[in-house]
Amino acid sequence: MDSADQFRFTHLPHPAPVSVAQRTELLANPGFGRVFTDHMAVVRYKEGQGWHNPTIEARAPIALDPAAAVLHYAQEIFEGMKAYRAADGGVVMFRPDANARRFRQSAERMAMAEVPEALFLDAVRELVRADRDWIPSGESASLYLRPFMIASEAFLGVKPSSEYLFIVIASPVGAYFSGGAVSVWVSEEYTRAAPGGTGAAKCGGNYAASLLAQREAKRQNCDQVLFLDAAEHRWIEEMGGMNVFFVMDDGTLVTPPLGGTILPGITRDTLLTLARDRGLTVREERYGIDQCYADAASGRLVEAFACGTAAVVTPIGRFRGHRGEIVIGAGNGADPVTGDLREALIGIQRGQRPDPHGWVQRID
Ligand code: PLP
Ligand code: COI
Repeated sequence: MDSADQFRFTHLPHPAPVSVAQRTELLANPGFGRVFTDHMAVVRYKEGQGWHNPTIEARAPIALDPAAAVLHYAQEIFEGMKAYRAADGGVVMFRPDANARRFRQSAERMAMAEVPEALFLDAVRELVRADRDWIPSGESASLYLRPFMIASEAFLGVKPSSEYLFIVIASPVGAYFSGGAVSVWVSEEYTRAAPGGTGAAKCGGNYAASLLAQREAKRQNCDQVLFLDAAEHRWIEEMGGMNVFFVMDDGTLVTPPLGGTILPGITRDTLLTLARDRGLTVREERYGIDQCYADAASGRLVEAFACGTAAVVTPIGRFRGHRGEIVIGAGNGADPVTGDLREALIGIQRGQRPDPHGWVQRID
């Protein structure tokens, strides 16, 4: 592939796409992550050849050698991002460049070939264009994009793969949580990531490691799991699939700092900026679980919320764990700071509010 052809996607349209009537029915109530569009973007990598054969093709099962490295040593990373239907019928994306950068950083940590950011963005945009009719227009609906990369070399020796598949799939989604405030189980037994580990990378292995704790949370009638640090089992880190914020009675926001063990969430970063724009004091600092329980009891801790691409901003109504249960605020999610930040974020993401930081990109 010479440089002029680089990243020029070949389009192989689906020979039998979903009918308009069926798509309309699917889009009416898509849930989260079970409905998929007609196409996918696929780009291959081979050592010595680099990235090649970018295509937009019919979404279909992929053929993998049973010895493919991803199946044995979990060399896999992914991203999560959304395209929205704007009020004028156009299509917008929110900070896709930040996902491209984080994907490259995840690849670096997992010793994988790095996808050039321009290629990542082209793949995502080409897929959104091909499947734009799949973008739902409801209030909390969007097209969730899932770029991912797997190690595809057939070799059982333990080493970084010399071949990769970079794929983007798309899924029309509604809200991740059914509504209201979520309940959170504090995991004392299992940790998610340790210093020097892969906590800051968006690799599938981190999620595999979280599932037992998430199952425990469900058994305890909680929606999500909260992980503490691996060294002292004391400092609040993040949830299984989202970052966490706390709001104090003086209006200060507290969120755990990025230190290599939590995912550097793009929503987290955005909310820090939006909060500062509003004149709120924001502290990225360690917050102990004992302090959290004490602050809830004294009334100092007035709100808490989860944030992420899937979760957007979701109020936390209660924490449960071996040390008992605490209710945050009224426990029903009617929290003013959380609500204000959520509205501000959604308004910008959907192109309904001014975008002073240049976060929103239009897809023509
Ligand atoms: N933390 C984890 C473990 C996640 O899976 C996610 C979701 O992507 C987040 C945090 C939030 O990241 P972002 O806001 O970039 O979606
Ligand atoms: C996302 O928010 O994009 C994630 O990857 C988290 C997962 C819970 C869907």
